[in-house]
Order: sequence, then structure tokens, then C-alpha cells
Amino acid sequence: MKALVTYYSQTGNTEKLARAIYEALHIEKEILPIGDVKSAEGYDIIFVGFPVQAHSVPAKIHFFFKNLPAGQNIAFFCTHGSLRGGHLPKQAIEHAIGLASRAKVLGTFGVRGRVDPKVIERLTNLAEHRAWAQEAQGACEHPNDADLADGREFARAILAKIGS
Ligand SMILES: Cc1cc2nc3c(=O)[nH]c(=O)nc-3n(C[C@H](O)[C@H](O)[C@H](O)COP(=O)(O)O)c2cc1C
Repeated sequence: MKALVTYYSQTGNTEKLARAIYEALHIEKEILPIGDVKSAEGYDIIFVGFPVQAHSVPAKIHFFFKNLPAGQNIAFFCTHGSLRGGHLPKQAIEHAIGLASRAKVLGTFGVRGRVDPKVIERLTNLAEHRAWAQEAQGACEHPNDADLADGREFARAILAKIGS
């Protein structure tokens, strides 16, 4: 059994979660930023992580999602400024599932991640985004230890699904 943990992370939050997931895996494993993955072939499971941006999946990683091997087992993880369990991060995960329609999605997981204060400041000044910017300020301590522990638990649950 071999696992790949790969991620895109602009400010480090998703990378932190990726490392927690990687730590929890007790099979042969690799961890790589998404831009360094030469081939997605040969893995029993691929954990793919991204930050939610504009309520969706960052455009620069769409290509990777669309080109996953057909039938490939994958699990998504993401970090986001919105409240955990809210409809906006769910919408981004749904988008990711749509992009990776060739793959077999075994599970998804998301936690809050500190939002770049410059982004919060910019959005606070735009009336239509002010409410979201205020909500996102609450993410400043995340991902925290409890989030990372949940990430490790998620990783173990996914491994159990592939019989490992
Ligand atoms: C340009 C930009 C757009 C963002 N858009 C959203 C968003 O639509 N919804 C959300 O919940 N968080 C949004 N965020 C917050 C990030 O998803 C969050 O801070 C995430 O943890 C960043 O992960 P990273 O450190 O791995 O890049 C945005 C952040 C940036 C920089």
C-alpha cells in the first residue's frame, strides 16, 4: 500500500494540515507540494489538499484534479476562513468533487485556516464582503492542535476504507 499526500498552500495552513495527515499514515508514503508531483500513478490513495479561495478550488490546481487517473482513490482536505461545517466550504468541496470526476472520492475534510490580514482588510472595505470578512477573523488561531488531531483521525479513517 502506498499513499501520496499532496497540497497547494499559499500561506502555510493547508501545508500544516497536510503534514498532520502524512504523520498519521502508517503505510509507505510521500508528501509533495502539488506542483512537484510528476505522476499521480502508482498510489493506492492520494490525499489532496487546497485552501478555499473565492468559495471554490484555486484555479491553478484545476489541471491536477482533472487529470487524476480514472478510478483513483482520493480524499480531499481543505482549509478555509469560513466557519467549519458552513455551506460555503461545502460548496468548494462539491466543486473539487466535480473537477475530479474521474477519481473515486473516499472522503472529504475541512478545517478553518487563518486568513491573510491584508485580504480581511481589503474585504472589510467592500460592503458585499464585509460580513464574510468579519466571520473570517475568527479563524486567526487555526488550524490549531485540535484541528490537526481531527486531520490525523480523518487520515486513519480513510486508510481503514482501503483496508489498511
Ligand atoms: C485570495 C484568497 C481568497 C480566499 N477566499 C476564501 C473563501 O472564499 N472562503 C473561505 O472560507 N476562505 C477563503 N480564504 C481563506 C483561506 O482559504 C484560508 O486562509 C486558508 O487556510 C489558506 O490556506 P493556505 O495557508 O494553505 O494558503 C481566502 C484566502 C485568500 C488569500
